[in-house]
Amino acid sequence: MAKTSIIFDLDGVIVDTAKFHFLAWKNLANSIDINFTEQENEQLKGVSRIKSLEKILQWGNKKLSQDEFDRLMHQKNTEYLTFVDQMTEDDILPEVKPTLDFLKSKGTPIALGSASKNAKRILKQVNLTHYFDAIVDGTVVTKAKPDPQVFVTAAKQLNSKPQNCIVFEDSVAGVQAANAAEMLSVGIGKTPVLGEANYVFSDFTEISQNFLEKLLNQ
Ligand code: BG6
Ligand code: MG
Repeated sequence: MAKTSIIFDLDGVIVDTAKFHFLAWKNLANSIDINFTEQENEQLKGVSRIKSLEKILQWGNKKLSQDEFDRLMHQKNTEYLTFVDQMTEDDILPEVKPTLDFLKSKGTPIALGSASKNAKRILKQVNLTHYFDAIVDGTVVTKAKPDPQVFVTAAKQLNSKPQNCIVFEDSVAGVQAANAAEMLSVGIGKTPVLGEANYVFSDFTEISQNFLEKLLNQ
């Protein structure tokens, strides 16, 4: 039987950074007189930095020069990184580390599949880098989720076939990307939002070792 590989999204799955992205985007939007709600933020999950700013400007009906656009991208990331640089292992989401330990003990190949250009910095900050056999992040991919590129590339780097990969994702775009890659998708979050996933759990505390075992052996 072929070995099952696991691909993790980062933000909102492994670490609780979604709240930092939200804060930084909200401050940025408000600084140019655009209102920004949690509902809108949901649509930015899994979406690249450039595409996120494009969407915010669209919602606020604003057009900017390229220079101003670049300045705002930089401003958002600078604020975001002030949060990131204060992160500790306490910002790893509940039961993520035991899950990684369990998968490692089973010899499961593990990859990261994230849109973030800050992924390696974040993994290092919370001491998780050594768990990953491959890291595919926003510095590598050219096509944003829901395009399957990020996960297909991660599978290739693990020498796995897509049908032997399972993706953990908290975003709608990410679940769609996993489905488009013909991988099994596990949504981490709320069922109404992540209805397209094969399975949905609110967080890793709901995922038992029996279930993981079942996933690995199917
Ligand atoms: C995704 C997040 O993982 O990464 C998005 O869900 C974020 O909210 C995107 O915009 C890009 O991240 P970064 O760190 O490169 O700005
Ligand atoms: Mg995410």
